Amino acid sequence: MKKDVMIVTGAGQISMAIARRVGFGKKVILGDKNMKNCETIAKVMTDAGFDVEPFQMDLSSRDSIRAMIAKAQEFGEIKYLVNGAGVSPSQAPIEAILKVDLYGTAVLLEEVGKVIAEGGAGVTISSQSGWRMPQLTPEQDRQLATTPTEELLSLEILQPENIKDTLHAYQLAKRCNEKRVMYECVKWGAHGARLNDIAPGIIVTPLAIDEFNGPRGDFYKNMFAKCPAGRPGTADEMANIAELLLSDAGAFITGSTFLADGGATASYYYGPLQPKQN
Ligand SMILES: NC(=O)c1ccc[n+]([C@@H]2O[C@H](COP(=O)([O-])OP(=O)(O)OC[C@H]3O[C@@H](n4cnc5c(N)ncnc54)[C@H](O)[C@@H]3O)[C@@H](O)[C@H]2O)c1
Repeated sequence: MKKDVMIVTGAGQISMAIARRVGFGKKVILGDKNMKNCETIAKVMTDAGFDVEPFQMDLSSRDSIRAMIAKAQEFGEIKYLVNGAGVSPSQAPIEAILKVDLYGTAVLLEEVGKVIAEGGAGVTISSQSGWRMPQLTPEQDRQLATTPTEELLSLEILQPENIKDTLHAYQLAKRCNEKRVMYECVKWGAHGARLNDIAPGIIVTPLAIDEFNGPRGDFYKNMFAKCPAGRPGTADEMANIAELLLSDAGAFITGSTFLADGGATASYYYGPLQPKQN
């Protein structure tokens, strides 16, 4: 019997939790730039009964994304997408954050949207970070949503003189992810497919652990201590949401971003995490 095909990018903890939750009985193409991560996660899943094909890919390259799609199509039409590849503000310079998290995600959603099967569904992972940045103008939001992918990185707001630091680059990238999901879901809808986004708060994974140990470590620890949940989240809690979004129970949900941050954003605006006023 032919299996449904699912592309998963980023052999990290969030991707794996989602893939384990929804990937049983499917053919999973697991892409990552770091082949060691990819093979490690593929083995954990294969040892647990999943059918996983590790594949080296770079989210910042359209050719690489197309090669992964072609690989997946060898097994049939692509029905599901999970995008959990990315770099954090402490892991990469501004240019790499924009190329991977902003441009790469936009290209992936576009390319998979061209071939997604009828009744398919996708989920990408943005971040609470996109919710903290001050509002952009309606025109800037529109540009992030609709600018042709190859022109995105030439937008004025993404030029080096307009980006303060890697955190600001990450916030812009994640805001762009949300806008891009709204824009692309319309095209996915023409295929009878849906596309959504999860904006996690602090989730304990290697990426977050790099942040705890990086220059903003105290800021992050304070954030989860003072959010209503009083703790960081887990990748499995993100899988709870992805399971809804990728299943028929989420059939009326598309173009949405689900903020799942233990209330950290609420506390940032209206609670003890509010920045001090000068
Ligand atoms: N962990 C958190 O606290 C948190 C919070 C908010 C958002 N996120 C987002 O969730 C997503 C997944 O993060 P995670 O915490 O599971 O991290 P992780 O470090 O466990 O996994 C990320 C994976 O992406 C891969 N990757 C990096 N650059 C790549 C590229 N160019 N091409 C292909 N793969 C690449 C890495 O090799 C790694 O395996 C990221 O987009 C991240 O920004 C994470």
